[in-house]
Amino acid sequence: MSQVIFEHVYKSFDGNTYAVNDMHVQIEDGEFVSFLGPSGCGKTTSLRMIAGFMNPTKGKIYIGDRVVSDPEHGTLLPPETRRIGMVFQSYAVWPHMNVFKNVAYPLKIQKVSRTDIQKRVRLALEMVHLEGMETRFPHQLSGGQQQRVALARALVMEPEVLLLDEPLSNLDAKLREKMRFEIKELQSRIHVTVIYVTHDQAEAMAMSDRIVVMNKGVTHQIGSPRQIYETPADDFVAGFIGLTNFMKCEIIDQHRVRLPNGAEIEPAVATDQQGEALLSVRPEKIYLVKNGGDLQGTVKRRTYLGNVLDYLVDVDGTDIRVSSEPHIIFNEGDTVGLDIKRCVVFNMK
Ligand SMILES: Nc1ncnc2c1ncn2[C@@H]1O[C@H](COP(=O)(O)OP(=O)(O)OP(=O)(O)O)[C@@H](O)[C@H]1O
Ligand SMILES: [Mg+2]
Repeated sequence: MSQVIFEHVYKSFDGNTYAVNDMHVQIEDGEFVSFLGPSGCGKTTSLRMIAGFMNPTKGKIYIGDRVVSDPEHGTLLPPETRRIGMVFQSYAVWPHMNVFKNVAYPLKIQKVSRTDIQKRVRLALEMVHLEGMETRFPHQLSGGQQQRVALARALVMEPEVLLLDEPLSNLDAKLREKMRFEIKELQSRIHVTVIYVTHDQAEAMAMSDRIVVMNKGVTHQIGSPRQIYETPADDFVAGFIGLTNFMKCEIIDQHRVRLPNGAEIEPAVATDQQGEALLSVRPEKIYLVKNGGDLQGTVKRRTYLGNVLDYLVDVDGTDIRVSSEPHIIFNEGDTVGLDIKRCVVFNMK
C-alpha cells in the first residue's frame, strides 16, 4: 500500500496549453480515489504520469515516500520500478494467449522463476475469481471475465497502487454495476491504493472515498461523493455531477438571495458574494405545491420513471426540472408552485 502525491504537476504537449494544469492532491494509503471529468480533461494523462509512461512538464509525483517524477531535478523513475499495476481502457488481453499466459506475462518479462510464476498467477486468479479458467482463451470468456483477466495481470505484480483507466467502459450496464462491487470488494480484501479514471459520475460516486473533478486539465474540486454532490465548488461541478437547475438571483446578504420574481430564499451555504449570482437547485430539492411556493410555473411535461415522476416546469420561459415522489401527481398544463428546499449559489462568470 502506498500514498500517491501530486505536487503542483503540469503537463503540456505543445508548450502552450496544459493538458494537466497544476494538479495538487494527496491520495492516502489504501484510499479509493476517482479522477472524474469529461473527455479530454486530462484523466488518462494524469494516470500515465503516475505510472511513469509519461513525464510531467513541471512538478513532483511521489509514490509512498519516494519521488518518482521530478523533471526539474532529473528524477524520472521508469515504470517497472514504481510498483504500480495498471488496467487500460480497452481491456488489452492478448487474444492468442490463454488466461494463464496472459496473467503470467509480466512475471516472465521480469524473469521470475517458473514455480513462483505458478504460485503468483494462481493467487491473482483467485483474487478475481477466475480459478479453473487458466487454459481458456479470451474469445471463450465473457466481457466481464476478460476484464478480470486484465485485473489479475495488474495484480500479479503485487502493486502498491492500482491504476484503473475506465476499466468498465466496454461492459453492459448490468455487468458494470456488478463489477463495481467486485472491484471495491477486491480492494478491501487486498488493501491496495486505487486510482480510478471514469467519466461516469454514478460509477465514481458509488466506488470512491474521494473524487477529483477535473475539466480542461484544471482540478475543480476534491471531496467525498457527498461533498461534491451537496456542496459543489462551482457551477461546473454542480452541472457535471447529477442534474441541477441554474437560475439567476441577486444576493441580499450572506444568508439570503432574491429570485427574479422577488421571492427570497436562504442558500444551504452562506455566501460572501455580492450582486448577481447563479443559483443551483437539484430537481429533487424542489417540491411542487398547489398554492404558493417560491416560484410559479406551468407543468410542460411529466415522465413516469418508476421510482420518481420527472416534471419539466416552465417558469417564465425557463425550463425547470423537478423530480418528485410518484404519488404526488400534477398534470401537464397545471399551474403549480415550486418550493425550493435546498440550493447553493455561485459566482456569475
Ligand atoms: N500524446 C499526446 N500528444 C498530444 N496531446 C495529447 C496526448 N495525449 C493526450 N493529449 C491531449 O491532452 C488532453 C487530455 O487527454 P487525456 O487523454 O488525458 O484525456 P481524458 O480525460 O483521459 O479523456 P477521455 O475521457 O476521452 O479518455 C487532450 O486534449 C488530448 O488531446
Ligand atoms: Mg482517457
